[in-house]
Amino acid sequence: MSLEVVYTIEDLRFRIARKRAAGATIGLVPTMGALHSGHLSLMERARDENDSVIVSIFVNPAQFNQEEDYNRYPRSLETDVELCETVGVAIVFAPSAAEMYPEEAYTSVEVSTITEGLCGAFRPGHFTGVATVVMKLLQIVQPDRVYFGEKDAQQLAMIERLVRDLNVPVKVVAVPTVRDEDGVALSSRNQLLSKPDRAKAPVVYRALRAAVAVAASGVTDVEAMKAAAAAVLAREPSVRVEYLEVVDPATMQPVEKVDQPVRIAIAAWLGGIRLIDNLLATPRR
Ligand code: PAF
Repeated sequence: MSLEVVYTIEDLRFRIARKRAAGATIGLVPTMGALHSGHLSLMERARDENDSVIVSIFVNPAQFNQEEDYNRYPRSLETDVELCETVGVAIVFAPSAAEMYPEEAYTSVEVSTITEGLCGAFRPGHFTGVATVVMKLLQIVQPDRVYFGEKDAQQLAMIERLVRDLNVPVKVVAVPTVRDEDGVALSSRNQLLSKPDRAKAPVVYRALRAAVAVAASGVTDVEAMKAAAAAVLAREPSVRVEYLEVVDPATMQPVEKVDQPVRIAIAAWLGGIRLIDNLLATPRR
């Protein structure tokens, strides 16, 4: 069956009801468009695990804390839809902001603790915007499974907790980060990097790898991990580090010792573009 693009919640619900009546299972891949191979791997996983895949494409104004960032976020609906078609997506849901937020909302979803550090400390309101729109999408679609990338580890941990805390009947599926050959994690924002800055971007992944190598060598001191990553980042002076943290993967709280798997996370600015990435590090047993 060919892909359908729908713009309204009513239309989407009507089409989903038809699929449900035919006994289909549904996988939801929430996106903000500008789709790349990272999204592709989410969609392929959803296709392999469900009868029907729905991809939402919505640049959610509520999660941008700077209007300029919202305005320049890449938008490419036509090519996104073509890409979705190649993977066998059943429905692309591409609502307008007025469709998603027809009136001033009195309700929002806020997840504490997990969202307080890392990106949450630098992007006030961002995670409430994400949690609220994801909750709305889950209510609208009511999928069996919903797919998120490990690249946005804090977002993923937040959604996993939100679903648990509020008993949302959906399985959250975490999909590994997809990287370019030079290690750079795929992100819609990468296309905003100038060529010289794109050439410098792999330093973030190299820094993460250096920290992971410290943990893998048996060192349990988090400061040693961070120092190894910082030394790599320092070799690229035009990279401005926003945070470099080692955290518990579920709570996103800083840890002092690597006596369990930990996530090392970096946010860095390169030529006005903010890059985030992370890796899991496991202590040597
Ligand atoms: O990860 C994203 O692209 C967005 O935060 C999401 C989950 C689609 C919510 O707008």
